[in-house]
Amino acid sequence: MTQSLIDRLGARLGPAGLLTEEADMAPFAIDWRRLFPGRPACVVRPASTAEVADVVRLCAEAGAALVPQGGNTGLAGGAVPDGSATQVVLSLARMNAIRRVDPVGLTLTAEAGCVLKLAQDAAEAAGRLLPVSFAAEGSALVGGVIATNAGGINVVRYGMTRGLVLGLEVVLADGSIVDGLRALRKDNAGYDWKQLFIGTEGTLGIVTAAVLRLVPKPRHTATALLAVPDPAAALRLFTLAQEEIGDSIQAFELISGTSLALVETHAGLRSPVGTAGWTVLIEAASSLSGLREAMEGVLGTALEREDALDGVLAESGRQAADLWALREHVTECEARAGKSVKHDVSVPITAIPAFLDEAGRVLEAGAPGTRVNAFGHMGDGNIHYNVLIGPEHASEAINGLVHGVVDRYGGSISAEHGIGQYRVAELARHRHPDEMALARRIKAALDPQGLMNPGKVLARA
Ligand code: FAD
Ligand code: MLT
Ligand code: ZN
Repeated sequence: MTQSLIDRLGARLGPAGLLTEEADMAPFAIDWRRLFPGRPACVVRPASTAEVADVVRLCAEAGAALVPQGGNTGLAGGAVPDGSATQVVLSLARMNAIRRVDPVGLTLTAEAGCVLKLAQDAAEAAGRLLPVSFAAEGSALVGGVIATNAGGINVVRYGMTRGLVLGLEVVLADGSIVDGLRALRKDNAGYDWKQLFIGTEGTLGIVTAAVLRLVPKPRHTATALLAVPDPAAALRLFTLAQEEIGDSIQAFELISGTSLALVETHAGLRSPVGTAGWTVLIEAASSLSGLREAMEGVLGTALEREDALDGVLAESGRQAADLWALREHVTECEARAGKSVKHDVSVPITAIPAFLDEAGRVLEAGAPGTRVNAFGHMGDGNIHYNVLIGPEHASEAINGLVHGVVDRYGGSISAEHGIGQYRVAELARHRHPDEMALARRIKAALDPQGLMNPGKVLARA
């Protein structure tokens, strides 16, 4: 059955649209963290929405499962197949056109395979900003960003990807195309069905194109790096920055000394404010003047109150990029340091200091010898509480310890990376059975055969 499906897919897509050789399929078969190796039946690379629709229909007829894949930068193993050699990987990478940039209506229409960075560049060329941004933006694709409802560094000001999606075109599990590529700011006409495909990691359908919301590109940016005595001081600094600079704050990141030490060891980058203790990276942007002075004021007051021990304010775009490089290299350097157990958690912002303190104590007692690499989007209450482990440590036990603390603070076990296959069991443990049952009803309604990315987000039925 698999071979006859592959033949039909090849006949429809042509040689450029089908990969069957092991070596060609290898990059599509394993996730970025190399935790989940799989074996695809084949990899299809359709070049249009009509081709995607035909692929989905042919797979549905053959009863073959489909695994959509964007840039394969996901951190939850959602974009790779299982080891059965029966699942078809559907790469959107060839559907990479930017169909339209409208600088007046502030929208950008792109196909799902457009690299996020190229979409950002197109917006910038028109004097506008596509505000979703994170370290993997040079590889992640628009469809993957939508399917994961990606967060990143600008959420504190612009919200998650969901808030930037105005219109969507999708292919459903039976191969039908639904065109909702509307560029409307206000649209309460019936169900907002596009939300079903945002953040559901390809388990309900395939995103083929989107209309994204842009914002005017601010003329001035102020970027500062501050050493702070502890997370409680970082929280006070957050309040101060909000009071003084308001919603011009577009990033507020917390970085532990361990994170900066990893970046120094594995990327040779040194923080100008030292690696001891905690560091905060703040960025504000505005088209109004006076931003730099306002940021200087925040720095001055923080130093005076001893909520900051040292601080630098970038003098140029180049210096700002150097400060950001310290933050953006953390994930890559963590991967180079060895095995880690990732926790992408959120708690109420005010609970971050207590959460960090308690999680540290719980790990010390329950998993001695581990090393915590904590960093993340403090302004969103989102900490990447990653734990570096040795061969003697069991990742499930560490998950249990950290997520137990998250539960005590009313938090979430996935703030922005999604569930993929990495957190399927954890999700079922941490979400109420009623919520899980509702999710299953939605899944059954949209994907009755269970062929859309099975085993991701929800355990197989
Ligand atoms: P993939 O990894 O290819 O796929 C992710 C999921 O979406 C899979 O379940 C896949 O099946 C599904 N999918 C992909 N395309 C489609 C489609 N067209 N239709 C339906 N389903 C689809 N994430 C954040 O949120 N914030 C961060 O700050 C952040 N930083 C990162 C830093 C690094 C260094 C790395 C490696 C990753 C980071 N990530 C971050 C995670 C990742 O980059 C994002 O989740 C990104 O949005 C995934 O996009 P992708 O195109 O690579 O998707
Ligand atoms: C980041 O913010 O850099 C990534 O989302 C985090 C991670 O590697 O856990
Ligand atoms: Zn992140």
